[in-house]
Formats: sequence, structure tokens, C-alpha cells
Amino acid sequence: MTEAQPDRAALVIGGSGGLGREICRRLALAWPAVFFTYRSRREPALALRAELSTHCAAECAPLDLGDAERVGAVIHEAAGRFGAIGTIVFAAGVRIRQPYVANITEEQWADVFQSELMGCTRIVRTGIPLFRQQGHGNFVAVVSFATSHFPPGDALSAVPKAGVEMLCRAVAREEGRYGIRANAVAPGIINAGLGEEFQRTLFKPEVWDEQRRRVALKRFGEAAEVADTVCFLASARSSYVTGQTIMVDGGLSL
Ligand SMILES: NC(=O)c1ccc[n+]([C@@H]2O[C@H](COP(=O)([O-])OP(=O)(O)OC[C@H]3O[C@@H](n4cnc5c(N)ncnc54)[C@H](OP(=O)(O)O)[C@@H]3O)[C@@H](O)[C@H]2O)c1
Repeated sequence: MTEAQPDRAALVIGGSGGLGREICRRLALAWPAVFFTYRSRREPALALRAELSTHCAAECAPLDLGDAERVGAVIHEAAGRFGAIGTIVFAAGVRIRQPYVANITEEQWADVFQSELMGCTRIVRTGIPLFRQQGHGNFVAVVSFATSHFPPGDALSAVPKAGVEMLCRAVAREEGRYGIRANAVAPGIINAGLGEEFQRTLFKPEVWDEQRRRVALKRFGEAAEVADTVCFLASARSSYVTGQTIMVDGGLSL
């Protein structure tokens, strides 16, 4: 099996993030075209597009997942630009702090559900008819180890991601007959994006040392390790894998 089909593009939602950026870089080494979205970080996104262009055709566009119409428009824009879309990777996420459930406001819940869970339903609502028409396609969603091994303070991240995981399984079960796959990757604590920011700004270093000791591999992960698993699930090398969540957490959830 080849890494990716030569005539298909990869679309990454949230390509400007710490994990999304590395996912784009890895996909660019194997796919003929990568289209990614950003929400606010335009300049870094344009720099990433230039970097990816040295390996494959690359394009980016702004997207706020709260804008339902825009989600559909961006997917069609990517298909219009590059032809068939082989994979849609969902790597976007809200920059949460770590409030306990008792302190989470209506507005905070609404924000994560709109951006992550509703955002993902919007992606599959446009992606499924496109993939059916093509006769192939797969979804890969970045979720979290926190749905299996809950760290207190992580509800704003874990609760919508549990929904995203279930959505992937529903798509896998219902759409498999059309050649469509859907899987999820669940990172542990990663030295990039939100994971890196939390290590710098939340809690004392001893708290992170304690967390590191709880990881079977005794270290936090790298974005490239998450990206490699995403690329595997996006590629034809995983052609008989669907409806699964692969933990990339160094054994933290064991
Ligand atoms: N890093 C970790 O250790 C870790 C561990 C477990 C799970 N995760 C999960 O993995 C996902 C990615 O994490 P990350 O560390 O890469 O986070 P990040 O660096 O904060 O990146 C988040 C990405 O999502 C985009 N985004 C945010 N709100 C959006 C919205 N409303 N509409 C569209 N795009 C939006 C951001 O765009 P802009 O930056 O351009 O605004 C950015 O591309 C998140 O769901 C996170 O919870 C991360």
C-alpha cells in the first residue's frame, strides 16, 4: 500500500496549532497537496504554507468552526483547489484553562461545544456527501487521553472530545459501506501547543514531574509522535482500520 493516493489532497482543520502544524508537515512529506485552516494566527499560517510548499502543493484559509456555513465553504474550497480530498483531519481545539466543573460557566461550555463538537458535526455534514461522491475518504480527529484517564480540571476539553470520538464511531459504522473511514488519535501530554503552554503557565514544576512519573515511558510526547499516528490513519496503510481511537500517550492512561 502506498502512503497516500497520488491524486488526493489532505485537509487539516486547525493547521496553525501546535499539533496541527506538525501534522501538516508530516502530511506534506507524503501527500501531493495539503490544505489547512487557521483561525487567528494568520502570519504563522502563511509561513507554514510557504514551508509546506517546498514539499507539496499547499494552501491555507481562515476558518472559525462556529460559523456553520463557512465550514462547508472551506471544504468545498479545498476540493475545488486540489480535486479529491483523501482525508480531513480535525486538529482544532479551544485554548482552555483548567477550571473544575463546579466553576465552568454557561459561556465556557457553549464555546467548547460550538467549536469542537458542533464544529466536528459541521465537518462531517459536508465531508460525508463529498466522500460518498468520490467513493472514498477518511476522517481523523485529534481527541485526548482525558476521556480514558480523567485529569481533574480537564472537563472543558474532555467532555466535547468524548462526543467527537462517538461521532467518529457513528460515521465509521454508518458510512463504511461507502468506503469512508473515521478514526481518532488521543494524545497524552505533549510538548507542543496547549500541552507546552500548560507546562509553562499552569501549576508548579513538581506537579509536572509527578505527571511525568505517571507516564509509562517516563516522558511527555512530541508533536511528531502524534502526527505520525494521524498520518498512518489518514493513509492507505490503515485501510482496514475504522471506528478506533489510538492512544498516543506514552502509557499515561494505563
Ligand atoms: N497539546 C497537547 O498536549 C494536547 C493533548 C491532548 C489533546 N490535545 C488536543 O489536541 C487539539 C489541538 O491541540 P494543540 O495543542 O495543537 O492546540 P493549539 O496549539 O491551541 O491549536 C489549536 C488550533 O485550533 C484552532 N482553533 C481554535 N479555536 C478555533 C475555532 N473556534 N475555529 C477554528 N479553529 C480554531 C487554532 O487556530 P489559531 O491558533 O489560528 O487561532 C489552532 O489551529 C486540541 O483539541 C487539544 O485539546 C492537545
